[in-house]
Amino acid sequence: MLYVLPARDTVIFPGVLVPIFVGRPSTLKAIEIAATAEKRRIFVAAQKNPEEENPGPADVYDVGTVCEMLQMIRMPDGTMKLLLEGKERKRCRAYVLQDSMLTADLVSVPSGYVDNDRLEALRQEVLREFESYVTYHPRLPAELIQPVSAIKDPGLAADMIAAHMTLDVQRKQSLLECFRVDSRLELLLKYLISETEMLKLGREIHSKVQKEIDQNQREYFLREQLKAIQEELKIDDSPEAQDLRDRAAKSELPDYVRSKVESELKRMAKTPSMSPESTVIRNYVEWLLDVPWLKKSEERLDIDAAKKVLDANHYGLKRVKDRLLEYLAVRKLAGKSSRAQILCLVGPPGVGKTSLGKSVAQALGRRFVNFSLGGMRDEAEIRGHRRTYIGALPGRIVQKLKEAGCNNPVMLLDEVDKIGSDFRGDPASALLEVLDPEQNSHFTDHYLEVPVDLSDVLFITTANVSHTIPAPLLDRMDVIELSSYLPEEKYHIAKDHLLPRIYKESGLTKKDAVLSSAALKAVIADYSHESGVRELDRRLSTLFRKIARVALEREERGEAPRKVSIGVKDLAGYLGAPHRPDVRIPREPQTGLSVGLAWTAAGGDVLIIEAVKMPGKGELQLTGNLGKVMQESAMTALGFIKSHWRELTNQAEPKWGGVGLHLHVPEGAIPKDGPSAGITMAISLFSALSGAKYRPGYAMTGEISLRGDVLPIGGLREKTLAAKRYGIYNLFIPEANRADVEDMEPWIKQGVHYVFVSQAAQVFEEALEGGR
Ligand SMILES: Nc1ncnc2c1ncn2[C@@H]1O[C@H](COP(=O)(O)OP(=O)(O)OP(=O)(O)O)[C@@H](O)[C@H]1O
Ligand SMILES: [Mg+2]
Repeated sequence: MLYVLPARDTVIFPGVLVPIFVGRPSTLKAIEIAATAEKRRIFVAAQKNPEEENPGPADVYDVGTVCEMLQMIRMPDGTMKLLLEGKERKRCRAYVLQDSMLTADLVSVPSGYVDNDRLEALRQEVLREFESYVTYHPRLPAELIQPVSAIKDPGLAADMIAAHMTLDVQRKQSLLECFRVDSRLELLLKYLISETEMLKLGREIHSKVQKEIDQNQREYFLREQLKAIQEELKIDDSPEAQDLRDRAAKSELPDYVRSKVESELKRMAKTPSMSPESTVIRNYVEWLLDVPWLKKSEERLDIDAAKKVLDANHYGLKRVKDRLLEYLAVRKLAGKSSRAQILCLVGPPGVGKTSLGKSVAQALGRRFVNFSLGGMRDEAEIRGHRRTYIGALPGRIVQKLKEAGCNNPVMLLDEVDKIGSDFRGDPASALLEVLDPEQNSHFTDHYLEVPVDLSDVLFITTANVSHTIPAPLLDRMDVIELSSYLPEEKYHIAKDHLLPRIYKESGLTKKDAVLSSAALKAVIADYSHESGVRELDRRLSTLFRKIARVALEREERGEAPRKVSIGVKDLAGYLGAPHRPDVRIPREPQTGLSVGLAWTAAGGDVLIIEAVKMPGKGELQLTGNLGKVMQESAMTALGFIKSHWRELTNQAEPKWGGVGLHLHVPEGAIPKDGPSAGITMAISLFSALSGAKYRPGYAMTGEISLRGDVLPIGGLREKTLAAKRYGIYNLFIPEANRADVEDMEPWIKQGVHYVFVSQAAQVFEEALEGGR
């Protein structure tokens, strides 16, 4: 039985001297008693939890070391310093608490059978590993190795090494618990290897960090020295600054730009060349040097030549071309003094607006650049960000000017009708400054800070519709309208313009493949449904790509080249089933149906409107995803019919409370809003109610009032063209639109029979048959 000294965070190994401080009264008392014994021994066992203030029998490990107390020194504060020598590891059979002091009932554990050669080998291995551990350990002196290697007893040597290692209590305890010497050595070896690895890693990281610090310091010193040398020698230019200075000397710059460049270069010389500030200045000066301030491309303005270019690039469009040529002529005659308006080409997608802009540039021998305003909401996109923002750049106008490389390009601004605005400012008002000839000779870009002269740029804008262009912008523009193409026109465009290009792109010639006229017409009619020719272009490209592939496959199989002739019946094989739009234009008289004309940004289209009558409670159901305005016109139409029933028919008036009506507008692709379908809905409803039948071959457009007046609408050109596309030639048009029809170019209205109406009753009379 020995008294126990619970150690908070030490494990004492046999053969090792350890000083220990004792403060707990119970332990002090135990030491006093133990010191009176002959052998002055005490059992030191580590605490499982070092925080435990009053460890009981369960709180200390049951393997510990019997120690001899060599020295006891009382400290002034009542604690005691104890010098212990570890004697022997023992296992405790049972701890007993006596008078608040722990005592242990100890047993010796035999170290088991061991093979001495093996132990010796292990000892040496452990020693070797210990040596490298000591070399990497920052606090263990190399002198330690000699005395440790002198210990020949493997068990003792292991204990000595374990005592010197920096290990946590758990691992030291596990070493102490190894009564078998060979397993003690093996475990120790394992710890040594992993600890040395950790130390190595730590040292590597440390030296890498150290190197970086050294490098930074070195650079700092060098830079300071460089600064001092530069000051001594009065050299103030980095190679970059010198480079920019050279470029500036060679560039043609207006005076105000040159002085800005110089002052910036001076500022640059004063900032350390590695600093971010210096990079900002450098970028800025580069931009100043990149803008083509005074560089002009030579303009040749020969109206005749311009006409040739336009004719060569574009089929038809006579009126548009004439307007463009007039515009160019005025510019030439009046020169800069003309308060020239900005051109705005308005028309459905794919009718050649962008390509006309390109042709204008070509005709004038000017560079061409374009960008889209669609969805632009931030003024900074046009005007740039101030230099104080990180990564700031000039706006699109200046960027495009740089791209053009001269200050008089043709700049095409696409989609002015889709420009937006929000809290980040209003790009439209910035655009106003760009486009206004009064103001644009000193346009300010936030990034550049110095004014840019845009007065030599020829701006052309494009839009799908003109009514969404902000009014102040529209006011400064000269609008030229482009209409949809008729099938014949598409045929010529495809033949003369699209196909030659497609042949080239697909690597085929007329010897390899031909498309018959009928087949081309069929592609136009059945595989593309649009106002312009973009879809048609895509379809034809697809077709020729497939032909090219077939030809190539034949060649690879070693077959003789064979000309591919594509007729109407071959189309399905190449392009799949026809994509005829699903508009079922009625060919027979029908009740509850009528054909209207719609106008959208994509051009004109026809609209079938269906209505049915059924028993109900006087409700009108509307389906087909109709907009609010359209729903209201349906109700207005019905209101008119109900209130004028007696005048409109000879039939007895239905009991409105027992009738249900359902009106539906199928064709899903057309956005359905706007009042212009009013009269068409009235016809469908009236036909459903009265049983009168719609006469095929008629289409109509017009707003309706509650009193049955037919009111004027817009988009007549596109609507007329759409009707013709579907083979409808009789159109009911509001009387008030008569002047529009008269203004229309003859080729559009050719073959169309317009019936001008001012009263819905007139349309009921002429477009419906029977049933009254
Ligand atoms: N009259 C024409 N003659 C020859 N090619 C034409 C004609 N009209 C259109 N094209 C061709 O159709 C294609 C599409 O034209 P473009 O890109 O100019 O249309 P867009 O009106 O600008 O359309 P979007 O409104 O979608 O921008 C181009 O390859 C163009 O060459
Ligand atoms: Mg375009």
